[in-house]
Amino acid sequence: MSQKLAKLIEEDKEYLFQNYGDRLPVAFIKGDGSYLYDQDNKKYVDLLSGIAVSSLGHMFPSYQKALHMQIDRIIHSSNWFLNPEQIEAAKLISETAFPGKTLFVNSGTEANEAAIKLARRHGLSFHKKKFNIVTFTGSFHGRTFGSMSATAQSKIHDGFGPLVPGFIYAPYNDKKAFRKIMKNSKYIAAVMLELIQGEGGINVADQDFVREVFDICNHNGVLTIIDEVQTGIGRTGKAFVHQHYSITPDILTLAKGLAGGVPIGAMHAKKFLSDYLPKGTHGTTFGGNHLACAAAIAVLKEIKKKQFSAHVCEASEYIFDRLKKIKQKTNYVKNIRGMGLLIGIELPEEGYSIVREALENYLVINCTAGNVIRIMPSLTIDMKALEEGMNILEKIILKRGEVYENTSAK
Ligand SMILES: Cc1ncc(COP(=O)(O)O)c(C=O)c1O
Repeated sequence: MSQKLAKLIEEDKEYLFQNYGDRLPVAFIKGDGSYLYDQDNKKYVDLLSGIAVSSLGHMFPSYQKALHMQIDRIIHSSNWFLNPEQIEAAKLISETAFPGKTLFVNSGTEANEAAIKLARRHGLSFHKKKFNIVTFTGSFHGRTFGSMSATAQSKIHDGFGPLVPGFIYAPYNDKKAFRKIMKNSKYIAAVMLELIQGEGGINVADQDFVREVFDICNHNGVLTIIDEVQTGIGRTGKAFVHQHYSITPDILTLAKGLAGGVPIGAMHAKKFLSDYLPKGTHGTTFGGNHLACAAAIAVLKEIKKKQFSAHVCEASEYIFDRLKKIKQKTNYVKNIRGMGLLIGIELPEEGYSIVREALENYLVINCTAGNVIRIMPSLTIDMKALEEGMNILEKIILKRGEVYENTSAK
């Protein structure tokens, strides 16, 4: 290990909270398209895109240009003033998702906080007394108190109780259980759902489950909130994953890829709902500032292009095809799940050491839910880089598979 790297590791431990555990031993100092470069200028294939954030890859020309132009004009004013970039970004979201109004914030957890507050204000209005929100096992909605309480995973709650009351957890993809909860529980204001659970292990919602959830909610005046923080902005081959299900949620939450790396979050809702967050009920200093919205505009303009989703589909097919072939060669791959460029490979054991081995071989991937390797490259991934990355991953998985089969045969 170089002295430079050793010093970074030491100083990280000395000066930063260690809430991310030991960081992977690399510091990226440059990105270019589908590649990242480390402190020693070594080149890596990036199949992670900063956890679905760098949607256009690194240094995408129109994105870079838009950011440079914005930096040279104005970065921040305040939400007290009109903001043309905010208006344009909101218009683009309305055009790509559904007609509605948008509230900009700074992250995914904040987008969900806003959705929770809106659902409660709507549910409690006119003495309706509806305040409960149904969420699903394996979900992840963020780390602030409201979003954390919405997240139905005890490991996320550990040590933080008491949580925010008013969340009911239902089993994911279980129509019967959902029906029962909706029948037996009182005061339900909203249902909040990820159509693909990203942090939960790339679990894809069944079409008929989603249909049932929407039918029941629509018949009972219960709002639907779709959390597309991870799945939105072209990630699944359509602009938003809910478009694969032919549904329109009342509230949609976005973040990650929306501004390609500049911090942003957004809650987009059907127009009538904006009446329920009137003056003084919610706000943020930074949310949707000029720079963040200029970045979002640059991203949204790109993902609207036809050839954009065609490329996502081509790259997705390539990955699924490669993974299917790998699965035929080894029992080490238990399952392959996902959609578009949000893909999970379920292993029979913990997968973090594969992430480390990949990194040693100049490939950046990630592991979620303990044993699911997650591939989520930029939406502009170069096919040659993708092939390079998949070659590295295949070698690692097949080698691991051999060891696994030998040890489990003993
Ligand atoms: C579906 C989903 N919702 C919310 C969040 C929280 O977003 P953030 O980390 O920007 O607060 C995440 C982050 O991984 C997520 O995947």
